[in-house]
Amino acid sequence: MTKFKYINVPLGDRSYDIIIGSQLLNKAGDLIKSVIRSKNVIIVTDTNVAPLYLSKLTSSLQIAGVDVEKIILPSGEQTKSISHFENLTDKILAMKVDRTVALIALGGGVIGDLTGFAAASILRGIDFIQVPTTLLSQVDSSVGGKTGINTRYGKNLIGAFYQPRLVLADVDVLDSLPKREILAGYAEVAKYGLISDKNFFSWLEKFGQKLCAGNKEYLRAAVFMSCKTKAEIITKDETEQNLRALLNLGHTFGHALETETGYSGKLLHGESISIGICLAFDLSFLLGLCSKSDVERTRKHFVLIGLPTNLSDIVNIKWNTIKLLNHMQSDKKTENGKVNFILAKGIGESFIARNINMKDVHIVIEQAIQQL
Ligand code: GLY
Repeated sequence: MTKFKYINVPLGDRSYDIIIGSQLLNKAGDLIKSVIRSKNVIIVTDTNVAPLYLSKLTSSLQIAGVDVEKIILPSGEQTKSISHFENLTDKILAMKVDRTVALIALGGGVIGDLTGFAAASILRGIDFIQVPTTLLSQVDSSVGGKTGINTRYGKNLIGAFYQPRLVLADVDVLDSLPKREILAGYAEVAKYGLISDKNFFSWLEKFGQKLCAGNKEYLRAAVFMSCKTKAEIITKDETEQNLRALLNLGHTFGHALETETGYSGKLLHGESISIGICLAFDLSFLLGLCSKSDVERTRKHFVLIGLPTNLSDIVNIKWNTIKLLNHMQSDKKTENGKVNFILAKGIGESFIARNINMKDVHIVIEQAIQQL
């Protein structure tokens, strides 16, 4: 008997469950049927995921009596664009859908964000369901309703907060993920411990390597703990007025690194977050907020897992402090020209720091570059 774990995200009439487990795709039909308004769904997926899981999900839905249409998009970050948004919404509207149809996002963050934004926009809002297929999307992007696309001015600059009706995280699908993608997702898992749960971080220090080697028991537990923490934060601050910003630990630095490397395979999002978290701890130490041992403990753990923690770990990039500072200042999270950082008073004690002097950020980046 397979046991699934449920987390409810209580948001009034936008409440939904996150279901986590193994062999969940086989049961997806019945689980999805219980939350949709008609028997019509459209699965949106990509060329990487379709050969692996599309037929399994389709069969499960059909056995449950659901009518399935499918749209397969190219894989990769370029798909989160205005042109693919138009292409996707055209395809859906050409199917003559009404407001009772539901979209199912089967894939990683790109498919989840694009499909969610299409769902938020079509007919002023139709239901959507997240079936995330990467560790990163299972622990972060599929939960909490951030949807959107990239523009020439930056990532995720057009979008909406729009909650899914259900999230199904089947850890078995992680078997097909390359190790590098698992590690990148792991940075977001560790982030939850570093934000607010010292015990979870200690647990990861014990079991993180097993989890990254694909151990299902630890994967299920880590996805559950991550989603539970995220759900608690979303419930208190759905639209990032305050508390939700904690989820951006490592992201102000990380986004600057990603912008500099062109959102390319040179640096995956989770890898930039791993380095970004270490730099956020460096800045916290520089400002006298946390101890050196907290900085070292964080870095040591990421190194053990196999994640990059320093700018020098990313080869073939000539880092430039001024360019990185400029990227930070044009990030969408700036407020009145001020860059906000998530800093730490210790492991599990992160907080939102406004009014940081960019001269201190300059020092941290220079130090990181001089280690080259
Ligand atoms: N990925 C951060 C958030 O969902 O707020």
